[in-house]
Amino acid sequence: MIYRLSDFHFPDWAARLYPHTPERPWVLEVGFGDGRFWPHYAATFPAAPNYLGVEISGVSLLKAERRLRKAGLTNAVLTRLPATPLIREVVPAGGLDAIIVNFPDPWPKAGHQEHRLLRAPFFRLAASRLKAGGAVLLTTDHEEYFAFACAEAAASGVMRVDLTAPPPAALETKYALKWRDLGLGVHHARFIPTEHPAVPHGTVTRYPDPEDSPAVPHAILTLPDTFGPTEFRKHTARGGQSRENPAGWTAVLLDLYRSLKQDGWVVLAHVVEGELTQEVLIGITGREDGTHLVRLASFGGPIITPGVKGAVGAVTDWLEEQGAQVRHRGY
Ligand SMILES: C[S@@+](CC[C@H](N)C(=O)[O-])C[C@H]1O[C@@H](n2cnc3c(N)ncnc32)[C@H](O)[C@@H]1O
Repeated sequence: MIYRLSDFHFPDWAARLYPHTPERPWVLEVGFGDGRFWPHYAATFPAAPNYLGVEISGVSLLKAERRLRKAGLTNAVLTRLPATPLIREVVPAGGLDAIIVNFPDPWPKAGHQEHRLLRAPFFRLAASRLKAGGAVLLTTDHEEYFAFACAEAAASGVMRVDLTAPPPAALETKYALKWRDLGLGVHHARFIPTEHPAVPHGTVTRYPDPEDSPAVPHAILTLPDTFGPTEFRKHTARGGQSRENPAGWTAVLLDLYRSLKQDGWVVLAHVVEGELTQEVLIGITGREDGTHLVRLASFGGPIITPGVKGAVGAVTDWLEEQGAQVRHRGY
């Protein structure tokens, strides 16, 4: 089953995601590509473990979903997201039996190492989300990335490295076959947590139900009688920086649209928080008492993060600059 980010809880739990098989082991695969690994690997268990697959390519997502459906693997959730925010925000502490990474993008160029997945912070996060006895399984053809990942695991201070043979299923993926055809060998390591550090979830929540809940980021203001913008310049707001999160969030207000149906406008905003990005709509709608409501719209399935609240704040601040009187800030 394909899940959007907004379909998850933060954090989520196995009994909700796999209501028919909550007692089975829970395996997460990062970057599953066209999904060949899981049918092979799942077949080596008496009953297929619960599967959470995360991949950033939408085309791969659809191919993998078809493949898993054909193999009858129904206790599987696939999602199109970058792995780190999914593992941090959705996976509960100590939830997983294994995290599997087959042939990750190696980012071989000098200066591109910060794009690599398997760095010390990832290993600390993984150790916090794995059960006792769980492991990260890496298979790769790329010798230099393999050495890099082993060194990063050691630097994390929470993983020991076991060099073993890869599971046969890891040699059946699209990339495994590609490298095998070129005569290249593979490296395999199991990274086993020696401790399970506490890596907290962020302050992320679902879009509340009912939709008019005060938990939706909003503001109430009075627009000046003369309000009727004829131009809108893209602008950027930043916030949320801390020692642990120096980049914080960035909200770019991209455009403003007039509603032809009701008294109001809509702002399109792009919100970036580390690897997580969201495009959100923020409505500015007239109310019966003559004030206007600035509010995150449910359209597109947003989740509520510090950056999304920041975007609602940025729209409110912009309206204030246009002469609005802000009565209430609910973000
Ligand atoms: C080299 S391919 C390997 C695909 C597959 N595992 C295989 O062995 O055939 C790497 C895959 O990882 C995906 N990917 C890259 N970065 C990712 C991330 N941060 N989170 C999830 N998937 C990612 C890419 O889209 C790509 O499909």
